[in-house]
Amino acid sequence: MKQIDEQHEKLFEIADRAYKLLTNDFISDKYDKIIEIIGELKEYTLFHFKSEEEYMLSIGHRRFLSHKVEHENFIKDIDNIDLYKIDSNQDQSVKEILEFVVNWIDIHILNQDKLIVES
Ligand SMILES: [Fe+2]
Repeated sequence: MKQIDEQHEKLFEIADRAYKLLTNDFISDKYDKIIEIIGELKEYTLFHFKSEEEYMLSIGHRRFLSHKVEHENFIKDIDNIDLYKIDSNQDQSVKEILEFVVNWIDIHILNQDKLIVES
């Protein structure tokens, strides 16, 4: 579905921003930018998951519940990010966020979300 694909694009964009932040040696204090990326990631995924779930329901997607659980776990993982830890090791934190998003794209989007399109 085109709309869902477009929303996934935005996740790629956020991952790209995290990568650029990680490799930017000119910013010495990245804390505010990291918090901004995490905030945007959460806000965007909440919006995106909601529309994806509505779409799944509308087409009677059979794996709706297990798919929704994966979405909920993703949000939980974002909520569990320790903001105090970020400041003490900023680059490592950006790396972890980046891995988290790339992993999600790789495992969830390319498997679960693909099933919606094929159903
Ligand atoms: Fe999904």
